[in-house]
Amino acid sequence: EKGGYDHFMLKEIFEQPKAISDCLRGRIDPDKGTVTLGGIDSIMDKLVNANRIIIAACGTSWHSGLVGEYLFEYLAKVPVEVEYASEFRYKEQLIGEGDVMIVISQSGETADTLAALRAAKERGALVIGVVNVVGSTIARETDAGVYIHAGPEIGVASTKAFTAQVTVLTMMAIKLGLSKNAITIKEAKKLISELAKIPQKIEEILQNTSEIERISNLFSYAPNFLYLGRSYSFPVALEGALKLKEISYIHAEGYPAAEMKHGPIALIDEMMPVVVIAATHHTNDKMISNIEEVRARKGRIIAITTPKNDEVGDLAEFSSIIPETMDVFSPLLSVIPLQLLSYYIAVNRGCNVDQPRNLAKSVTVE
Ligand code: F6R
Repeated sequence: EKGGYDHFMLKEIFEQPKAISDCLRGRIDPDKGTVTLGGIDSIMDKLVNANRIIIAACGTSWHSGLVGEYLFEYLAKVPVEVEYASEFRYKEQLIGEGDVMIVISQSGETADTLAALRAAKERGALVIGVVNVVGSTIARETDAGVYIHAGPEIGVASTKAFTAQVTVLTMMAIKLGLSKNAITIKEAKKLISELAKIPQKIEEILQNTSEIERISNLFSYAPNFLYLGRSYSFPVALEGALKLKEISYIHAEGYPAAEMKHGPIALIDEMMPVVVIAATHHTNDKMISNIEEVRARKGRIIAITTPKNDEVGDLAEFSSIIPETMDVFSPLLSVIPLQLLSYYIAVNRGCNVDQPRNLAKSVTVE
């Protein structure tokens, strides 16, 4: 049932080209520059007229929500707030008619996410689900929704659900951007043609994992890791750190790269591996300065970067090169080496990759 892989997690990492293709299938037309999402057709008017969008989720799904924030703001010019579902439910809920909540959940059963959705509905907001498990409670209780079609995810650490969630949020943002005239058909065609190439580009990353395996072998016994990213790569930094924490039990923190100087820089010395996600071109210069700051303190730089960001590759002690894409799609590629890094490190440390201690696949307690 693991299809020849040692663990479900590895199988699911390698399934991502297929999961993303399945998620895109029948929904995008690169020639026409259109996105078809049947599950939100009937509420598209309300989404177009929304004052703002609030995204609520937990864990990895919250990270994909953060990517969604950048996507919706950039492509559809709509203000977005991303809330931990558990925080939203216990604070002053300033949400109501005219607002839209998007809840993101792989399992569709997470108790806090379900409670956030119920609270938003009660106050008159429209709630849209981005869910994997068909017919799950969250899928049933939302007003409308888009399934991510990633297929069953068995490994406790979420991998293909993350990339499929980001894919759905990307399609939604392009569709909304078109409806709001925030992007032109010409721009949409360019975006959608590139989006269609993402599964193949993920496949390219997965075909050569030797460098990431080598890096994993060198750092398997590090006590701490720091992950840094800017813009679209910031949520990826958080996700990379979470993956490492949950399956290898190594303490890891993700930070927006510019925040490093406001505290975490104090941690950096020759014992500290720093994973720098330098996969967006518009932030490249700033990431180079961050790398220099880490190097000056003897931190060990592992860069996730692209051929065009060659200066990053030259400055970093180690680098994992991913294919070029548009900045908006970079999380779909840059997260892959981070999933692999955490996997190989966890295996080296003899951890139970598919069922990490203290964790459950579906968190139905509050
Ligand atoms: C991380 C992980 C968890 C889940 C979180 C939300 O790898 O699996 O952080 O992402 O419990 O779960 P869902 O998406 O099912 O609501």
